[in-house]
Amino acid sequence: MEIIKTKADMQAWSKNKKKESRTLCFVPTMGYLHQGHVSLMEKGRPLCDELVLSIFVNPTQFGPNEDLSSYPRNIENDLSLAEKAGVTAVFLPIKEDIYPENFQTEIKLQSLPNHLCGKFRPVHFAGVAVVVTKLFNIVMPDKAVFGMKDYQQLQIIRQLVLDLDFDIEIVAGDIIREKDGLAMSSRNAYLSKSERTSALSLSRSLALAKELLAKGEKNTADIRSKIDSLIHSFPETKVEYVSFCQPETLEEIKVIEKKVLLALAVKVGKTRLIDNALIDPAQ
Ligand code: PAJ
Repeated sequence: MEIIKTKADMQAWSKNKKKESRTLCFVPTMGYLHQGHVSLMEKGRPLCDELVLSIFVNPTQFGPNEDLSSYPRNIENDLSLAEKAGVTAVFLPIKEDIYPENFQTEIKLQSLPNHLCGKFRPVHFAGVAVVVTKLFNIVMPDKAVFGMKDYQQLQIIRQLVLDLDFDIEIVAGDIIREKDGLAMSSRNAYLSKSERTSALSLSRSLALAKELLAKGEKNTADIRSKIDSLIHSFPETKVEYVSFCQPETLEEIKVIEKKVLLALAVKVGKTRLIDNALIDPAQ
């Protein structure tokens, strides 16, 4: 497994592989890897000849009061998981190389970032769009794998690829969960023991919504109020949003007639957690 630290070296490596007609699959991450990330690498590994992983805690996607400075890191463990998952090159850039002085380009999508997390994290998706664009141009992959855990991010990347004509196939990976249902996240490391219990309120809410829907409830306001009560029955929780929306446009839905995305964000203590599920009333 090669470790590549500059964008010039990364581009040279990718160009060289392409010259040898080798195809490239790419998994971008911010590190502190867990089984969710590993599942994306395992999904990507058989799809191409080479598997590239990037680890970069991207400053432009964090708001001023967010956790950029405390974001967890463990590079040795990350490299060992990557190697086991069959990664052939790890790209570990520094921020000065990605954002040189006088960097000034913004990428703004018109409507997808106005829903869900974007309402509460106003700079987040512009930061994601710019860094993913840059990583695509540096790594030059044929395919890239993103997790459904960050569903809005996945939709934004799909739109970005369409709008800007990237010749890259976007592959989606399922949400990987702990045994008790908590979606894996690097941010779970922030949770105290009691917060870890309250963090179950998210996956329990998804299960409750599925149950209510199976019983024939269709009105999202009614389901939402039951979810709110369930979440607030767990200590130290504060709902940021509980949203039923159309899975492509992310626009809010009032009455559930066909497949919907239920997405939620909850603050557990100081830690902001997200989760989601696609729910089909026909099933
Ligand atoms: P990060 O939070 O490290 O996530 C990297 C990838 O892992 C994303 O595609 C995310 O959806 C996926 N992922 C996280 N938890 C998962 C889980 N439990 N199951 C399955 N996949 C999971 O997302 C980012 O980094 C950044 O925004 C990035 C795209 C790298 C741009 O900076």
